[in-house]
Amino acid sequence: MDKQLHWNTAYATRQEDGLTWFEDTPKQSLDLIQTYATPQDGVIDVGAGASRVVDGLIAAGYKDITLLDISATALDVTKTRLGADYATPTYLVTDITRWHPMRKFQVWHDRAMLHFLTDEMSKEAYFGSMSAALATGGYAILSTFAQEGPETCSGLTVQRYSSKFLFETVDLEIRDAFEAVQDIQYMHKTPSGNLQAFQTLVLRKK
Ligand SMILES: C[S@@+](CC[C@H](N)C(=O)[O-])C[C@H]1O[C@@H](n2cnc3c(N)ncnc32)[C@H](O)[C@@H]1O
Repeated sequence: MDKQLHWNTAYATRQEDGLTWFEDTPKQSLDLIQTYATPQDGVIDVGAGASRVVDGLIAAGYKDITLLDISATALDVTKTRLGADYATPTYLVTDITRWHPMRKFQVWHDRAMLHFLTDEMSKEAYFGSMSAALATGGYAILSTFAQEGPETCSGLTVQRYSSKFLFETVDLEIRDAFEAVQDIQYMHKTPSGNLQAFQTLVLRKK
């Protein structure tokens, strides 16, 4: 499967609020990012898609924002929506499993991207980049479908996690590099009203 084509098609054929993962106001993500990074810190949203997290960060005064996604179409939706603010973030169109970070961030935020990585090599590459991209004392905020969440998203099989299983998975790939500092279970309501069980794990890089 051509992953880039899959995701570009998803964003090209549906309106933002026609996507199951759409959030009008991504409150939990914004609250967590603002807890773990100041407006002067670098924040990367991995698998940012067309999420409105960036709108909230810009409104809160954050300037060092990087949006990474495999889909240029998704990031174009964001650029158009941001209007005059479109030049504030840095945009990276790349597959996270092939990306080699050239700098450090204080916060790595990922909502609903990591769970699409189902093979060991992809997970190893992802957590390697996450560790390399985070400053010592930086935080990863990882939200995935929970163990009782949906088995697929956007027609793709996902890896579901409990926060304990996710911590064990990270620790297996990058031994002893992170400590768990917060975990949250919550329900996401899709635009059509279905409920999806998510878990969020916050990790601190030692
Ligand atoms: C379910 S959407 C979530 C988007 C956004 N985080 C949100 O909460 O609205 C998953 C996103 O991950 C991106 N994605 C999937 N696989 C990826 C990969 N290997 N590398 C980078 N981005 C990827 C997709 O293009 C899509 O935008």
